[in-house]
Amino acid sequence: MTEIRRGTLQEQTFYEQVGGEETFRRLVHRFYEGVAEDPLLRPMYPEEDLGPAEERFTLFLIQYWGGPTTYSQNRGHPRLRMRHVPFKVDRAAHDAWLKHMRVALDELGLSEEHDATLWKYLTYAAASMINSPG
Ligand code: HEM
Repeated sequence: MTEIRRGTLQEQTFYEQVGGEETFRRLVHRFYEGVAEDPLLRPMYPEEDLGPAEERFTLFLIQYWGGPTTYSQNRGHPRLRMRHVPFKVDRAAHDAWLKHMRVALDELGLSEEHDATLWKYLTYAAASMINSPG
């Protein structure tokens, strides 16, 4: 889809195409509901309250897909692999993470194409976050 801005024809960002902030908030909120119940993942999260972690991840995804850059204004460069070093991300953690993400993504009910784009990125990113053989 396209729209006119300041006289130029611009492509909508992926962020806009899928429904903007609300969509990413719903996705990450549902994901963290799964994490909160997960016996492997929940203990990995250092804070008692998952709210701040939910906010960081939401803002990261919003920025990544072309929305506001609030994440980097608050947190600086993402350096995601480095930020995951304190946590043992092995195959089991990777699988559990993706399982909750799949549930959350299904509930968004995106178009097949948008779903596939997001899922491809998430699976690739999750694989790249593995930092422990098990
Ligand atoms: C593969 C399994 C993964 C596990 C087990 C995992 C676990 C964690 C944990 C325990 C934290 C700390 C929570 C916090 O205090 O923010 C965290 C932070 C974060 N994770 Fe992951 N993660 C995984 C994959 C990913 C992937 C694939 C992405 C991106 C697509 C991602 C993005 C983030 C972001 C943005 C933060 C906050 C970074 C910051 O401090 O600003 N994670 N993750």
